Amino acid sequence: MKICCIGAGYVGGPTMAMIAHKCADHTVTVVDINQARIDAWNSDELPVYEPGLDEVVQAARGSNLFFSTDVDTAIREAEIIFISVNTPTKTYGVGAGCAADLRFIEKCARKIAEVSEGDKIVVEKSTLPVRTAESIKRILLANSEGRDFQILSNPEFLAEGTAIADLQNPDRVLVGGDQTPAGLAAIQKLVDVYAGWVPRERILTTNVWSSELSKLTANAFLAQRISSINAISALCEATEANVDEVANAIGTDSRIGPKFLKSSVGFGGSCFQKDILNLVYLCRHFGLPEVADYWQGVITMNDYQKHRFARRVVSTLFNTVSDKKIAVLGFAFKKDTNDTRESAAIYICRDLIEEQAKLAIYDPKVSEAQIRQDLKVTEENPYVTICEDAYAATKDAHAVLILTEWDEFKALDFKKIYDQMQLPAFLFDGRNLLDLEQLAAIGFEARGIGQG
Ligand code: UDX
Ligand code: UDX
Ligand code: ADP
Repeated sequence: MKICCIGAGYVGGPTMAMIAHKCADHTVTVVDINQARIDAWNSDELPVYEPGLDEVVQAARGSNLFFSTDVDTAIREAEIIFISVNTPTKTYGVGAGCAADLRFIEKCARKIAEVSEGDKIVVEKSTLPVRTAESIKRILLANSEGRDFQILSNPEFLAEGTAIADLQNPDRVLVGGDQTPAGLAAIQKLVDVYAGWVPRERILTTNVWSSELSKLTANAFLAQRISSINAISALCEATEANVDEVANAIGTDSRIGPKFLKSSVGFGGSCFQKDILNLVYLCRHFGLPEVADYWQGVITMNDYQKHRFARRVVSTLFNTVSDKKIAVLGFAFKKDTNDTRESAAIYICRDLIEEQAKLAIYDPKVSEAQIRQDLKVTEENPYVTICEDAYAATKDAHAVLILTEWDEFKALDFKKIYDQMQLPAFLFDGRNLLDLEQLAAIGFEARGIGQG
C-alpha cells in the first residue's frame, strides 16, 4: 500500500519513519512545502532532534521511506493520506489567542480534492478541534465528483524527547471514523497498518468526534496535573514543605499515580497550551462558560508559575538584576528535544530582559538562531549572549538558572562554576534537577521549586 503524509515536522517525520520501519510492505512518502526541511530529512543532519530517530530513518530511507516536496504526486499515488501540518493558535481575527488556526489544514484538504484521481482515506494526525473532520469532509465532498473520501481521526500521543519509544510501544493507538460500512472499512485499513507492530488490544476505535475530543482531553488532563502540583509548589515555598516529597507522597496512591507530578518552571511545548486554549474556545462556542473557566485555570496557573520564577530571581538578587550577568542553562521546553515552542525559558528570559539583566544562554541542542528568534533579539542586542557551553555561560555570573532538565547539567563541575562566579553565587533550579545540599556545601545560595 502507498501511504503519504503531508507535513514533515516533529509529528509527521518520526511517525512516518516508524510506520515505514515496521511495515516493509508499505511505501511511505512524507511531503512538505518547506524545501529546506525536506533537504534536511534527506541529509545526515535531520531537522528534528529525537533520541533514536537517526537509526530508524536510516534503516528505511530510500527503501520504503521517502521525503519529497512533490506533494501532488504523493497524494495522487497514495491510498492513505495523513495530514500532519501545524495548527498553531490563531493570532488574528475571531478567536485570536484561543482558536486553532486551520488554514494549513484547509489548504491540504483543497489540495487533496484537486489532485486525487481515485478514492482516498484521509487521516487527521495533527491535533485538531473537535468537529474539524466535518470541515475537511465538506471540502472534499464538495469537490469529489464520484470519488469517495473517508475521513479518519488518528491523533498522535507521542511526547517529544521520547517519540521513538512512544511510537514503538504506545499505550494505545486511537482511530476514529464514521460508523458506516465504508467508514468501518477505512478504520480497519488503518488499524491493520498499526497492527504491524502494536498489540491489537491497544488499538482503540471510536467515532470521529470521540477521537478528536480525546486528544484535547488527554493533553488537558496531563497539563492539569502539572498546574496542580505547581500550584502546590508555591504553597510549599511559603510553608517549608517540599514539593517533591508531597508529589511522592500523593503519587503512591494508585488512584493518583506517580507520573506527571514533577513541579517545574511551567509546562511548554507545542501542544498543552494550544490544546487547552482550543478546548476553552470550544466550550465558549458551545455555551459552556463554567467549563471554559475551569480549564482556563490550568493556563492561568502555568503563566503564574513562569512569572513567579522570574520574580523570585529578581527579588532574591536584592531586587535588581539590571546589568547583572545571569546564566541560563537550558532553553528547550524539555530535555532531549531541540524544540522551543512555548518553552517556559522564553517567558522567563523575556521577563529578565525587561529587568535589564544580561543573559548568557546555553542549550545543548537549540541553535543560536532559534533562541534569538524566540527572544526577538539580534546579534547586536547587548542583553543576550549565546554560549558554547555551561562554563562560558556562568563565568562572572551573579546567578545560574536551570530551565531545562538536560542530563548533562547533572554532571557539571559546580565547584569550578562557583569559583568563577560573582559572590554571593545564586543558583535557581527550575527543574529540581540538582542536589541543593551539595551545592550549598560548595557555597552556592541554591534554591529549587517548591522548597521552602
Ligand atoms: C476520600 C478519599 O478517597 C480518601 O482517600 C480519604 O481518606 C477521604 O476522602 P471518600 O470521601 O470516603 O474518601 O470517598 P471517595 O471514594 O474518594 O469518593 C468521594 C466522592 O467522589 C464520592 O461522592 C464518589 O461518588 C465520588 N467519585 C469518586 C466520583 O464521582 N467519581 C470517581 O471516579 C470517584
Ligand atoms: C505532550 C503529551 O505528553 C503528548 O502525549 C502529546 O501527544 C503532545 O503533548 P510533549 O509536549 O512533547 O507531549 O511533552 P511532555 O512530556 O508532555 O511535556 C510537556 C511539558 O510539561 C514540558 O515543558 C515538560 O517539561 C513539562 N512537564 C512534564 C512538567 O513540568 N512536569 C511533569 O511532571 C511533566
Ligand atoms: P508538528 O509538531 O505538528 O509536527 P511542525 O510545525 O513541526 O508541527 O510541522 C508541520 C509541517 O507541516 C511544517 O514542516 C510545514 O512546512 C508543513 N506544512 C504546513 N502546511 C503545509 C501544506 N499545505 N503542504 C505541505 N506541508 C505543509
